[in-house]
Amino acid sequence: MSPSGSFRTVWVLFLVHFTLQTAETRRLSAINSTTSAFFVFGDSTVDSGNNNYIQTISRSNFPPYGKDLPDHIATGRFTNGKLVTDFLSSYAGIKDLIPPYLDPTLTLDDLKTGVCFASAGTGFDPLTAQINVVIPIQKQLKYFKEYKSRMEVEIGKEKTARLINSAFFLISAGTNDFMVNYYGPTQIRSKTYNISGYQDFILQQAQQLIQGLLGLGARKIAFVGLPPIGCVPAVITLNSDNALAHRGCIQRLSAVARRYNALLKFKLAAIQKQAPAATIVYVDIFNPIDRMVRNPQQFGFENVNLGCCGSGIIEFSVLCNPLSPVCSDNSKYLFWDSVHPTQAAYYYVFLGLRPLVDRFMHI
Ligand SMILES: *[C@@H]1O[C@H](CO)[C@@H](O)[C@H](O)[C@H]1NC(C)=O
Ligand SMILES: *[C@@H]1O[C@H](CO)[C@@H](O)[C@H](O)[C@H]1NC(C)=O
Repeated sequence: MSPSGSFRTVWVLFLVHFTLQTAETRRLSAINSTTSAFFVFGDSTVDSGNNNYIQTISRSNFPPYGKDLPDHIATGRFTNGKLVTDFLSSYAGIKDLIPPYLDPTLTLDDLKTGVCFASAGTGFDPLTAQINVVIPIQKQLKYFKEYKSRMEVEIGKEKTARLINSAFFLISAGTNDFMVNYYGPTQIRSKTYNISGYQDFILQQAQQLIQGLLGLGARKIAFVGLPPIGCVPAVITLNSDNALAHRGCIQRLSAVARRYNALLKFKLAAIQKQAPAATIVYVDIFNPIDRMVRNPQQFGFENVNLGCCGSGIIEFSVLCNPLSPVCSDNSKYLFWDSVHPTQAAYYYVFLGLRPLVDRFMHI
């Protein structure tokens, strides 16, 4: 490594260390915040292990997943370490890891501080969950309803209402609807919908979820848009004319995500208008990931189009398993497997989202 290279490494380490310390300080000062619980809905971008408890092959509760978590436990998170939601919860002073709702060992304290209902492989389209044999978003809402009843028995109606009113809600899904269902190998929905019709259908489903949550008392809702889906390594592999040599993003597919995000922003603004007591925020994931793809060196990345696990061109879930070789330094990779970002990438996304937590803390 050149002297300037090692200097840069030290500088990046210093920055990361410094930011972690700041997060720790902030965490202490957030003790008085009204937000004391965090609820998560969506797909593998936020699933903390619900799929471990259902019959599906859409799983990651085996090595090398989780190798950088405390105790190196493969929890069912689809990355080498923590998810953005874990970092956000930690920063908010709530807890360091958001547990999956289906874990039968959850204590009352675990439940009180919030849980994750997400299921890897799901989408807003019920058919997407059916294809992947996972928990539909609509069922996640039912689980939340069940959670609410459970809490009413445990701590009473009034306290439960207060808990939900002040809690932080985050929804992250939609990628599988486009990547797997509409543009995937079987292209099921593209046989009955044109793309703008499908985008509208997905947005309707998203709206129903938000309205369901508002009806159950949610007041602080962050809704994550789509990433540049054309830059996902597996998508590049399936759509490139030469998947080994030409690994640039598939712009046509990222453009679909960009357009969906624009429509989503409109939809969220309309829902917000109808629900003045709530705060509904659009969360941009497209541009943060796009910046990492375009300027890898700025983030210390050396590879942004292959996963760290296996060959990097196709392996994820059961194909990324204890027999897969992994890259020697996953902090130099944007993607952990051929679909999901590394903890390093998630950490950079989290840094950009801290103002959102600050805002939610003060309402
Ligand atoms: C928390 O709030 C109480 C009362 O509002 C106040 O006395 C206390 O100093 C606050 N603590 C922190 C750490 O801000
Ligand atoms: C897409 O389908 C809808 C009906 O579902 C139709 O109104 C619209 O014109 C179609 N758009 C295009 C570009 O074909």
